[in-house]
Amino acid sequence: MSNEGVDDGRRRFLTAATSVVGAAGAAAVVWPFLASLKPSAKAQAAGAPVQADISKIEEGQQVTFVWRGSNIWVLRRSKDMIASLSQVTAQLSDPKCEQDQQPAYCKNETRSIKPEFLVMNGKCTHLGCSPSFKPDHPAPEIDANWLGGYFCPCHGSKYDLAGRVFNGMPAPLNMVVPPHRYVSDTVVVIGEDPTDAKKEAA
Ligand code: FES
Repeated sequence: MSNEGVDDGRRRFLTAATSVVGAAGAAAVVWPFLASLKPSAKAQAAGAPVQADISKIEEGQQVTFVWRGSNIWVLRRSKDMIASLSQVTAQLSDPKCEQDQQPAYCKNETRSIKPEFLVMNGKCTHLGCSPSFKPDHPAPEIDANWLGGYFCPCHGSKYDLAGRVFNGMPAPLNMVVPPHRYVSDTVVVIGEDPTDAKKEAA
């Protein structure tokens, strides 16, 4: 009789146990981050407002949340990105946001409550494709004067970094800004207006 079989079996058990603990540990680290980005399935099904944790979005980065089956992008704009918005005004179809594509509280140049954060439905207003986020510039393959924005791969519509469409594009309107409100510096509720909070408090 040899002890080898026993030792091997024990070793295998310890290796397996370590792997399980390791995987569980990794999941524990990853899960809070994912949970902060994704609404619950129940909330999605109901079309309920979605709480989005925007604390981990880095400058220049865009993160997608889902609200009522639509991809809602949250872009954290850098100072340069914000500055680019006033430089493209003359090239835009609706620079002052006269069309009803955003709540009244986002009818401004940045189309936002806080200039740093753009909250927008990621759907082209031509036939509904998903435009690509193209923050880098120059990008002569998109436009000789490109300062960053969105490019729709379906039929070539271009939008600035506030989702305002450029002149002469197939897309007729700016992309839609959904209702949203901040409950803190790091959490935004998509699907509710700021006035909803006041009504609750009354
Ligand atoms: S769907 Fe975007 S340009 Fe046609």
